[in-house]
Amino acid sequence: MVSDAPKHYPVLLNEIISIITPQHGGTFIDCTFGQGGYTKKILSYKDTQVIAIDRDIESKKIADKISEKFPNRFIFKHKKFSQLDNLKLKNEKIRGILLDLGYSFTQIKDPKKGLSFNSVGDLNMQMGLNNFSASDAINNLDVNELEKIFNFFGEELEAKRIAFNIVKERKTKKIDTKKLVELVEKSAVVTFHSLEDKIVNYFFKSLSEKKSISRYMPNINQPETLFSMVEKKPITPSAKELRENTPSRSAKLRYVIKKNDFYNFETDIVKKFKTLLDIENFSEKL
Ligand SMILES: C[S@@+](CC[C@H](N)C(=O)[O-])C[C@H]1O[C@@H](n2cnc3c(N)ncnc32)[C@H](O)[C@@H]1O
Repeated sequence: MVSDAPKHYPVLLNEIISIITPQHGGTFIDCTFGQGGYTKKILSYKDTQVIAIDRDIESKKIADKISEKFPNRFIFKHKKFSQLDNLKLKNEKIRGILLDLGYSFTQIKDPKKGLSFNSVGDLNMQMGLNNFSASDAINNLDVNELEKIFNFFGEELEAKRIAFNIVKERKTKKIDTKKLVELVEKSAVVTFHSLEDKIVNYFFKSLSEKKSISRYMPNINQPETLFSMVEKKPITPSAKELRENTPSRSAKLRYVIKKNDFYNFETDIVKKFKTLLDIENFSEKL
């Protein structure tokens, strides 16, 4: 059959399978189900189960088809992965948790989602389960909050100037996608980078490494870490994958192995990720 729909190519799939080894069975959580690329592959091995999550309701259509095929081995939850705790999985033995961070090709191409710089009209950028849009944030947050967002998520040196220009401009006119692009171009160099990778690397590293008191002293009497980080460098797509799926070029795969059940949420997570959590809380104002 010939179809115009682009073939879905799950990024770094073989590498993921060789790390999580579903051949041995077990339950996996696919936190970013998308079009089900990873889930379908895992379910192709017998004795596996998948609990899948996605915040975008569009994913449910694909999930429903998988549920029909594997009624006893697959569950889909329309949730954000930050709500993982609500799934009450405490007694389930989970062999692996996957997160494929970013937008899917179909989301970027969907004009209703307003994710592309080239789209016109209202700013949206909602991925599902949002109570506010990018337009609400750009047109309502104060200058310091906007600066914090551009500074942190954009790692933008001109964050202050962009925030200032937005607040000045919106006094006369609501800011839409075209205006925002203009304002950013007027203020700044736009950089493309992988902030997700930095955050993931920081998260994994900080929960995998024992703090070195001195390089001449053995690391004694230090609490055991939550994870062990087997490979420090990220795994990137092979030459074959790059040839077959160009958008995979920026993908980086990192993984850790959980070795311990103990961590302190306040000190290990909340304190270390304060900036991210602060920004998340801006939404309470919108
Ligand atoms: C790159 S796609 C995943 C593609 C998937 N691995 C596949 O092979 O089909 C990322 C998906 O993560 C979802 N997503 C992003 N942030 C999320 C969140 N906080 N909670 C749940 N899903 C999220 C998006 O809606 C999108 O469908």
